[in-house]
Amino acid sequence: MWSGVNGSTGLEEGKVSQATRSVEKARWRFVDRPLCHGFRAVVCAIRVAAIVGLSGLASIALGAPGALGDDGPVQTPNMFAPVSTPAFAIRDISYFVLGICAVIFVVVAALLTYSIIRFRRRRGEDTREPPQVYGSNQIELAWTVVPVLIVFVLFLATARYIFGIEGHEPPPQTLQVTVVGHQWWWEIRYPDLGIVTANELHVPVSNPANPSPTFLTLESADVIHSFWVPQLAGKLDVIPNKTNRTWIEPHTPGLYVGQCAEFCGVQHAWMLLRVIVHPKDAFDAWVVEQQAPAVDDRVARTGRDVFGSVACINCHTVRGTTANGIFGPDLTHLMSRSTLGAGVAANTPENLRNWIENPAGLKSGALMPAMQLSSRELDQLVAYLLTLR
Ligand code: CUA
Repeated sequence: MWSGVNGSTGLEEGKVSQATRSVEKARWRFVDRPLCHGFRAVVCAIRVAAIVGLSGLASIALGAPGALGDDGPVQTPNMFAPVSTPAFAIRDISYFVLGICAVIFVVVAALLTYSIIRFRRRRGEDTREPPQVYGSNQIELAWTVVPVLIVFVLFLATARYIFGIEGHEPPPQTLQVTVVGHQWWWEIRYPDLGIVTANELHVPVSNPANPSPTFLTLESADVIHSFWVPQLAGKLDVIPNKTNRTWIEPHTPGLYVGQCAEFCGVQHAWMLLRVIVHPKDAFDAWVVEQQAPAVDDRVARTGRDVFGSVACINCHTVRGTTANGIFGPDLTHLMSRSTLGAGVAANTPENLRNWIENPAGLKSGALMPAMQLSSRELDQLVAYLLTLR
């Protein structure tokens, strides 16, 4: 059998028999020590399961790369640390499903381990095939009925939570916010308050005794995105030509980070969202600030003229000026926001200048063009934008 190969490859007879011997030796080793290999396979399987399980849990717990705070990265989102009514429900059902799955895993793994050890092949044992059992009504009924019951319980429990969350009617006077997904930023509109902002959703805290939830209408300007702030609510797709609705009811003031959870283009990973939950008074103050038209600072007039003379005004709105573009984020109160480019950089004067000079340098693929401004124009423009508090 080797001769043909030998002839074509020029291997000598001695080398061929050596190769055959080493193959035989390897095969002998494999056959002779099934237990050892069995254990290795089990250890390997446990390792793989542990790696897959841990990375799965990590991806559930740590959705985003970490949003930028005023001084560096802040918390990472964690669906097991909810602060909002729908998120509490999601955590509870997650623990319930994980608990059932954990029991199944323990039972199956224990039976498997027991079988591997108890029925392993022993040296000098009878090597004939054991009796083969075909068909057992009791066993087949058991392994059909029990899983069907388990799936039914999981289905009912999940459906109850889904309908409980989705069927929640907004009480009157509920804050309504429209969130529009763009490549790659979030437009945030408060239709009843006349506020438009970007990448930062400000909402009031809700007192469980006197709930004040925020209802969100999700729309997309281009492709499918997905709204996900794990500590506040479940993940919901943001689909072009379709309106989805969800709600949050945070009980604790603070900053909660989220992100787009549906691949939507090259900068999908930098489509971060910050939700700032204010005490009631602070939220009212924020609303008053945001409702004011843009500051018209005389000192920055030249920069404002630069802004008006290049294409900036085609895409951006600055309320109270001729700039009323809607393709890019509303800049009326740009400096009240803490990040640029949906979380790609902190909103500092230096980053702002770099961003305008070359958006692709910070966020490759960003749809904002580099306007080829001179250094002087850049300085004037940045000076103007810095007044938009
Ligand atoms: Cu938007 Cu991913």
